Amino acid sequence: MGKGYYISRHLATAAMVLAAIALLTIIALSVVYNREKSKNAAKFTNATTSPVPPTQKTSNEPWDKYRLPDTLSPEYYNVTLWPRLVKNANGMYIFTGISGVMFTCVKKTDLILIHSNKLNLTLFKGHHAKLTGQSGVTAPAIKTTWFQMETQYLVIQLEGKLKPGKSYWLYTEFTGELADDLEGFYRSEYMEDGEKKIIAITQMQATYARKAFPCFDEPGMKAVFHITLIHDLETTALSLTNYFVFVLNERPNLCVTIFGPTKKMSTYLIAFVVSDFKYISAKDKKGVLVRIWARKKAIEDGQGNYALKITQPILEFFEKYYNTSYPLSKSDQIALPDFNSGAMENWGLVAYRETALLYDPQTSANGNKQRVVTVVSHELAHMWFGNLVTLKWWNDLWLNEGFASYVEYLGADYAEPTWDMKDQTILYDLQRAFAVDSLTSSHPLSRKEEEVNTPSEISEMFNTISYSKGAAVLKMLSEFLTEPVFAKGLSNYLKQFAFGSSVYTDLWDHLQKAVDQTPGVKLPYSVHEIMNRWILQMGFPVITIDTRTGNVSQKHFLLEPEAVVDRKSEFNYEWFVPIKWMKKQQVQDQLWLLQKSGTLNLVNKNEWVLANLHVSGYFRVNYDLGNWERLLSQLESGHQVIPVVNRAQILDDAFNLARASIINITLALRTTKYLLHERKYIPWEAALRNLNYFFQLFDRSEVYGAMQAYLKKQVKPLFEYFGNISSNWTAVPSGHTDQFTQIIALSLACSTGVEGCRELTRNWFKKWMQNPHNNVIHPNLRSTVYCNAIAAGGAEEWNFGWQMFQKATVAAEAVKLRSALACTKVPWLLNRYLEYTMNPEKIRKQDATSTIGYIASNIIGQSLAWDFVRANWDYFFKMYGTGSFSFSRLISDITYRFCTPFELSQLKRFQKDNAETGFGSGTRALQQAIEKTTAKIKWLAENKEPVHQWFLSESA
Ligand code: BES
Ligand code: ZN
Repeated sequence: MGKGYYISRHLATAAMVLAAIALLTIIALSVVYNREKSKNAAKFTNATTSPVPPTQKTSNEPWDKYRLPDTLSPEYYNVTLWPRLVKNANGMYIFTGISGVMFTCVKKTDLILIHSNKLNLTLFKGHHAKLTGQSGVTAPAIKTTWFQMETQYLVIQLEGKLKPGKSYWLYTEFTGELADDLEGFYRSEYMEDGEKKIIAITQMQATYARKAFPCFDEPGMKAVFHITLIHDLETTALSLTNYFVFVLNERPNLCVTIFGPTKKMSTYLIAFVVSDFKYISAKDKKGVLVRIWARKKAIEDGQGNYALKITQPILEFFEKYYNTSYPLSKSDQIALPDFNSGAMENWGLVAYRETALLYDPQTSANGNKQRVVTVVSHELAHMWFGNLVTLKWWNDLWLNEGFASYVEYLGADYAEPTWDMKDQTILYDLQRAFAVDSLTSSHPLSRKEEEVNTPSEISEMFNTISYSKGAAVLKMLSEFLTEPVFAKGLSNYLKQFAFGSSVYTDLWDHLQKAVDQTPGVKLPYSVHEIMNRWILQMGFPVITIDTRTGNVSQKHFLLEPEAVVDRKSEFNYEWFVPIKWMKKQQVQDQLWLLQKSGTLNLVNKNEWVLANLHVSGYFRVNYDLGNWERLLSQLESGHQVIPVVNRAQILDDAFNLARASIINITLALRTTKYLLHERKYIPWEAALRNLNYFFQLFDRSEVYGAMQAYLKKQVKPLFEYFGNISSNWTAVPSGHTDQFTQIIALSLACSTGVEGCRELTRNWFKKWMQNPHNNVIHPNLRSTVYCNAIAAGGAEEWNFGWQMFQKATVAAEAVKLRSALACTKVPWLLNRYLEYTMNPEKIRKQDATSTIGYIASNIIGQSLAWDFVRANWDYFFKMYGTGSFSFSRLISDITYRFCTPFELSQLKRFQKDNAETGFGSGTRALQQAIEKTTAKIKWLAENKEPVHQWFLSESA
């Protein structure tokens, strides 16, 4: 008999039964394993044991469609998995599993389609599954089974029909590869105390649960899951719920961990882990157990403490905001050494990259700390929005991710109230979204259900439009409804659809009801009508205010003024625009611009007018020249009068209006003159991004020198200011965002050659090289210092950086070094570094594409990276082509600097040459690259000279 842990006395009988089941399960899985072993080097594709489909396939067969038919509905699953963390006789890591799913027949059918990918299913009397009826119902016999590779189904044809209203049990046994491919059930390796450790972990979103066990793998197909894991005694198994652990006398080296049933939930939110990780824990006010799990050393070093500290206030915030208790009894969060995305909101076991959960006060920067609080807040926001209520299909992903991306700032602000978190949305969402939504290759936020089908199409939904435009328009919505009304509608929506699924219009319905029930909130149109214009047509307007006449008008903003927009819009590229504004330094009543043009009530035409106050709206603003002049002189004479986020937005709008040839580039450049007095982070960051864009355009031309001289002049006071307040760079400014500004000061001062800067960074790095055990460089400044020193140095500096990278035990430190290594100007070092990205022993697979991106942002590295990726295109496509973020990022990174006709022709050639393989989830990124390069070429032809002249005159 086995021995149960975590079990009270009165449950002893249940424990005995479970232990007996556990033993039987082990025996069954051992049989599956031995059968697998007896085969020769098995390949884990669906094809291996698959009989040929009986009929010639035509595209109209249900198994050729990517969406499941509506004939069956899963109720619950029993899944038992046994990952082997040592290689088998064929040199592979595998897992064995048995799984049953109870489903109800909704419509009469003689066909079962269930997702299954890369699993080897055992044959029972020649079929890949067993089917039995429930409650006395006899199941029809199985006629034939096969795998439909393209659509990733196990197809089961029956001799007779399943009966509506009746339930059936479908049973499978299988083996799968525990590959290091970051998808489904996979393995991750890391070194600890000189020893190689292997853990088994999962990533199911969006379509990988089917790679761990056969399942109805669509978000709307919610069910209850009973998960059991078999694993070695020294390891711990974790999943979404609490568990019992059994040690069996019969197999003393093994444990069986049986997890309690989950809530009704989607397959993509399942997770399980087998590792020897350690944890720290706390109970929140309501008794919910909160734990942070990570590598033993990371936990011992206290790297999980910050995440633990902020999880409680964040959960508390969301409970209040959603007006709904946390739906589960525990919240585990785990930091993984290999993880494809930044983090994943598995329901009860949230998974993170190490850099997104761990924070080490000794070596991590405050930016790393901010990353932790925002990612934790984002994922915990999903525990309700996304997990408790789930969008039925991936076409509505924008609402799920856009929502979490908006409210992550609210949760983070609650946990860290002094950090100006809410203001930062304009940098990380609004401006980021504008950059891609001003291209003709953009697309509407909302997609029709039938437009999103294949795994690649689903992956492509995880893009900047879904995340950042989604966040920005939801923020606008919340602001024009007012937050209490928004929150009220939201909480009613969550109540109605809890444990179920919805479509985006369900949320609009509840928000409308909340508006109708709140006296004092008046909208010119319904929530549906207003929001349709923002989500069903792509792009956004530029609002032009003519203060001479009071005329206000809107126009679709396009980066390339003469671009032709192919996509028709039923709303004619007009929006219902809520315009908050101020004049005479006083906030005015909000104006709704409901047509192409309208009127503002202006009395004194000599006062400046500022629109999109606090940047609550998703639009750009342009003014008549007189008002631009008044704003510029206000910036120079007393910039504090203008809200800090508006200062940043004036800069960003002006530069982009100039890039679209709507205003003169010199006007945009003039918005940077007041920076001499600016000390705040958000405007500086906005300026830096726009100037960086200029750097990329001009650092290979004669404009560069004059531009450097001007910027040097502008940043010098900031550099001196921070030198003073930090006692000559030995102390840290007290304000959180001031610490970010300090980094900007240092990095811009060094890159433009402000006296004293390069010496400072070179000396710090030299000191570290002399004494590698004592890094004197402040963590906040490390990225900048490392990059500068490695750029100025040669192989010795590079090799030192590489050694430190390999030794780093804090992931955030490793990232700083990995990105700094890309700063070298030595071509052979860059080429060798590029080669490393194809060797997971050197650069983890999760980090390969971003490393290439870092190299491509280096002026010398750009062309090397471009050649490298093209030369190894097949490899990169195979490895990352269907991935969600990595592939489109790779394409946009390696083409980011493109601005010449030659580069454009190379890009087009590349598109043509690889048309057959295609560009997978990077298809749109490539179109965007072509469009951006075309716009830049044209713009440069007209603007290079005036820019050159302006910099010359201003730097004199
Ligand atoms: N659900 C996503 C993670 C994800 C993305 C899974 C793409 C599969 C494909 C998660 O909620 C998320 O959005 N993570 C972000 C971090 C967040 C703070 C924006 C990420 O991974 O970058
Ligand atoms: Zn998310």
